[in-house]
Amino acid sequence: ALCGPHFVEWVHKQTERFIEKYAMFTRDERVLVAVSGGKDSLALWDILLALGYRADGLYIGLGIDGGLNYSDESHRYVMDFIGKHGGNLTLHTVDVAEIYGASIPEAARLTRRGRDKPCSVCGLSKRHIMNRVARDHGYDVLATGHNLDDEAAVLFGNTLVWSMDYLARQGPVMPPSHPGLARKAKPLFRFYEREMAAYAVVRGIDYMYDECPHAIGATTIRYKELLNQLEVASPGIKLQFVLRFLKARQAHGLFAQVREQLELHTCPTCGQPTTNDGVCSFCRMWERVNARRGERML
Ligand code: AMP
Ligand code: FES
Ligand code: ZN
Repeated sequence: ALCGPHFVEWVHKQTERFIEKYAMFTRDERVLVAVSGGKDSLALWDILLALGYRADGLYIGLGIDGGLNYSDESHRYVMDFIGKHGGNLTLHTVDVAEIYGASIPEAARLTRRGRDKPCSVCGLSKRHIMNRVARDHGYDVLATGHNLDDEAAVLFGNTLVWSMDYLARQGPVMPPSHPGLARKAKPLFRFYEREMAAYAVVRGIDYMYDECPHAIGATTIRYKELLNQLEVASPGIKLQFVLRFLKARQAHGLFAQVREQLELHTCPTCGQPTTNDGVCSFCRMWERVNARRGERML
């Protein structure tokens, strides 16, 4: 119900309020914003810059084509955003194929984990790379563009199967799980997806409109559709679902025991935390991919 300029002002004020309320970060801290080229993460970068935070970007080139030239196009939107901001923003770019030897779809084809869908190989790799770049460049915080629809869908999925580990850890701000790692924050977690789409339009941010071609049929998309139906019948239900979960977890110490019992080790190869007693899943997966690629070349 707001006009363009007032809507932008409202989004900025709300974001600032959430950042403070959940103690995500301060203006003195260095924030690394993971930008995918989609509306949420570009909107997040735009908002943080407008609010005067010290925010740099990180783009991960996954090498996904899917008939859409998906990754190259996404990168183009990120570069376009930087151009529109005068060109002098800092962007870290990591090309997965260049650094690790294979693109995400190639790596997925060579592993059992990703044979049907590359999403799990992709998620594992993105998490690792985000942690690594934030650590190597001394960022205090890693910020992602997850919105309310994302958070509600993930919470819904984790609740359906009572995934205790994830329920213990999911939240708008997570302290570093290991020395040297950055805190993780989701400053947009209370905005609806359509609010972020409206923000991008009003601010003239061009973004990658298509979903990742591999996400088609993904369970989170199904959960989002279900939650949208519930939202039509009971407006506000998504926000209630997420906020009441966070409140109940804090007030009643839910999952505290799970959190305490979660034993993290240090991966001897990369130094990142892992629940494995030994090499982490990321390093193991890439070792296997590169061994298979070696066999194929012989
Ligand atoms: P997704 O996992 O695709 O739902 O994306 C969630 C968040 O992860 C986005 O809002 C971004 O902050 C970040 N992200 C996803 N893909 C990339 C990418 N290729 N490079 C950098 N950040 C990304
Ligand atoms: Fe990773 Fe789709 S974005 S598989
Ligand atoms: Zn490792």
